[in-house]
Amino acid sequence: MNYENLLISIEDKIATVTINRPTKLNALNKATISDLSKAIKLLGKNDDVRVIVITGSGEKAFVAGADISEFANYTIIEGAQLAAEGQETLFDYIENLKKPVIAAVNGFALGGGLELSMACHFRVASDNAKMGLPEVTLGLIPGYGGTQRLPQLVGKGRAMEMIMTAAMISAEEAKQYGLVNHVVPQAELLDFTKGIAQKIIKNAPFAISKAIKAINANYKDGKDGFETEIKSFGKCFGTQDFKEGTTAFLEKRKAEFTGK
Ligand code: COA
Repeated sequence: MNYENLLISIEDKIATVTINRPTKLNALNKATISDLSKAIKLLGKNDDVRVIVITGSGEKAFVAGADISEFANYTIIEGAQLAAEGQETLFDYIENLKKPVIAAVNGFALGGGLELSMACHFRVASDNAKMGLPEVTLGLIPGYGGTQRLPQLVGKGRAMEMIMTAAMISAEEAKQYGLVNHVVPQAELLDFTKGIAQKIIKNAPFAISKAIKAINANYKDGKDGFETEIKSFGKCFGTQDFKEGTTAFLEKRKAEFTGK
């Protein structure tokens, strides 16, 4: 199958899915989210695939977030729908896939990009990677599970600070925080990640799928949190600050927020 915004290769039972919109820093527009969800579903059912690696094309970005130009005029209802559909068809789907999904974070992983990597079962980063949830600079909150998965991975205090300041952290800081498991030079990122995949492939697939299920089961209580995130994300779309934040990004200027 051919995808507009993805490149897919399968080798030695490892599928590599490369998000391919480098001129937009691989930002997740609707078409890419839909491509990704279709591709992950098919690879999940493909017996030639035991591990999936997700990465971004180019040397600069994994994914620089959801595509701001696409949702800048959304209403409260459309905003909540965007989050709900994305969570159901892609982010939750990846987290609950029976096969391991590893994010190879090769540059900026911001907003929806960091959220995508956090929905994967674990993350490996290149040394140039930068990670953050900058949604509040746009008058939004994370809407693809970021308010839930970031505290699960780095702890509540660090997640509060990262989300409230919108600050980007380096790959090394992300490793200290437990957000990524390894940091390697960019040129070695894919080989290193595939090396981990090869170790996983030696082990029993049914047992691996049950390990994923059991580990995830511990976090299911967070479901209310995901629903709260969707509703709160939607509400942000009704504010003047959201209009100002997204317009300022698209006009390449600093936003001036009023709290309204
Ligand atoms: N949505 C839509 N377009 C995006 C994007 C996003 N999330 N992130 C980057 N782009 C586009 C830029 O608009 C630009 O397009 P143009 O060349 O047509 O003007 C192109 O990708 C390159 O980005 P640019 O901002 O010029 O690169 P930079 O090196 O100066 O800055 C970033 C890199 C990542 C710091 C900056 O692109 C950025 O802040 N992106 C948005 C991050 C964000 O807020 N994500 C959360 C969204 S919920």
